[in-house]
Amino acid sequence: MDKAVTFALAKGRLANKAVELLEGQGIDCGVLREQGRRLVFDGPDGCRFLLVKPSDVPTYVDHGVADVGVVGKDTLMEENRPLYEMLDLGFGACRLCVAGRPGTSLNDRHLRVATKYPRIAAEVFAQRGSTIEIIRLNGSVELGPLVGLSDVILDIVESGATLKANGLCVLEEICPVSARLVVNRVSLKTKESAIRPLVEGLRAALKEERKEK
Ligand code: PRP
Repeated sequence: MDKAVTFALAKGRLANKAVELLEGQGIDCGVLREQGRRLVFDGPDGCRFLLVKPSDVPTYVDHGVADVGVVGKDTLMEENRPLYEMLDLGFGACRLCVAGRPGTSLNDRHLRVATKYPRIAAEVFAQRGSTIEIIRLNGSVELGPLVGLSDVILDIVESGATLKANGLCVLEEICPVSARLVVNRVSLKTKESAIRPLVEGLRAALKEERKEK
C-alpha cells in the first residue's frame, strides 16, 4: 500500500474472518497470528492493526486513530457515530432480537429490558410507544429474565442455542446484523489511494463469493 492504513479489528467472533478477507486483498496480516497480549501489530507492508473490543471499534475509527474498521452492524447502531459504512461483509450474520420467556407480553407497562444495547433498546421501544426500564449489562444478558432482573432482553441471536439452553425464545425480531467495513471520514479523502482500491477489491471478492453460493 502506498499510504499506511491502520485497521481497528474487533477481537472475538469477527476477528478470523476479517483477517481472511484482508489477506485475500494482499494485506499481510501474519503478525496477528502471534500469541500473546500485544494490542498493536505492524505488518510488513506498512499496515498497522489494532485489536480492540468490538464495541470500541467505532470509537477508534471515529477519532481517526484507525482509518478502517471491521465491526458488527449491532455495534454501529448502538454507537451511532459519523463513520462511512462502506460494505456489508456478510459474515457474522445474526439477528437483533427481543427475547424472553415464552408468552411474555411486550405490551406490559414498564417492561424491564436487560441489554448490552441501551441506545437501540430505547429507540425500539420508543417506536412501540412503550415505557421501559433499561438495565445495562455487559454480557450473559440471558441471565436477566432467569433471575428476575428483567422481563426481557434485547440481544443478538446467532444459532439460538443460548436462548434455548436457558428456556428463552425470540419474542420479536428487530433486524438482521452482519459485519461491516467502516472508514473514517477524513481518511477516505487523505488515504483515498489506499482505501478505495481495498474497498473495491473487497466488493468484487464478496460478489464472487455470493455467486459461488
Ligand atoms: C452473544 C450474544 C448471545 C449469544 C448468541 O454473546 O450476546 O449471548 O452470543 O449466540 P447464539 O444464538 O449462537 O447462542 P457472546 O458469546 O458474544 O458473549 P457475551 O454474552 O459475553 O456477550
